[in-house]
Amino acid sequence: MQLLGKTALITGGARGIGAAFAAAYIREGAKVVIADLDIDRATATARDLGAQAVALDLADLSSITAAVENAVQALGQIDILINNAAVFTAAPVIQITEADYTRAFDINVKGTLFTLQAVARHMIAHGQGGKIINIASQAGRRGEALVAVYCATKAAVISLTQSAALDLIKHGINVNAISPGVVDGEHWDGVDAYFAKYENKAPGQKKAEVGAGVPFGRMGRAEDLTGMAVFLASDAAQYILGQTYNVDGGQWMS
Ligand SMILES: NC(=O)c1ccc[n+]([C@@H]2O[C@H](COP(=O)([O-])OP(=O)(O)OC[C@H]3O[C@@H](n4cnc5c(N)ncnc54)[C@H](O)[C@@H]3O)[C@@H](O)[C@H]2O)c1
Repeated sequence: MQLLGKTALITGGARGIGAAFAAAYIREGAKVVIADLDIDRATATARDLGAQAVALDLADLSSITAAVENAVQALGQIDILINNAAVFTAAPVIQITEADYTRAFDINVKGTLFTLQAVARHMIAHGQGGKIINIASQAGRRGEALVAVYCATKAAVISLTQSAALDLIKHGINVNAISPGVVDGEHWDGVDAYFAKYENKAPGQKKAEVGAGVPFGRMGRAEDLTGMAVFLASDAAQYILGQTYNVDGGQWMS
């Protein structure tokens, strides 16, 4: 029960890694609000886990403000934010569209920053500090031929984590990030479809290839990420800030 009595807002918690974070936090004693674009699924997931759900569109700043206010109302206060929701996109460089670029940066970068800002303002006003965990990606550690935009958004998340950590620690707010590698689930079904299209692969082929290439010996599972998310939200992580932890089966070493 490392998070007993704590409260957490988790974006993108309707499914995948965010839903696993919510389940783990509840097991550790936290009260959780899931915020997601897919409010029907978020509501169903929250019901299953014993959490609460609020609507959120990270591409819309007024929606971020409303979601954070609704979460504060539901929880009383927010001790922990996991900035987890994001979208993936891929295309050869010469085919990238402005619309795709704008959507990915609006959700993955602008949405992450302004959710962090809204929650940090609440934490500062409340005067008890807090923990903010951004979800980056191994895609933020280096470029990929077909994934220029998504990789750039995740590199931005790593950079924002460092700057926000340096600015907010004086308020007792620790900002860190987790960098997953390749995690099986609906997200990767979408990634696999992009590679099937652009590299002329059979459905499932890219997934099998990347899984075989992970030093640990398999793709990640959402549950593989939860230990680090609990640790970074716990009192044991008080002296840690601005770090991005690779939890990726040995894919990236830094
Ligand atoms: N799955 C992987 O292999 C992998 C690898 C590295 C990093 N990540 C990162 O981990 C995080 C979670 O990934 P996942 O695999 O669970 O993804 P996912 O696609 O399964 O889940 C993403 C969630 O975010 C929500 N969402 C999408 N757009 C939104 C918006 N505009 N506003 C609010 N919510 C929105 C979706 O409805 C969904 O519930 C993401 O930041 C992702 O980039 C995933």
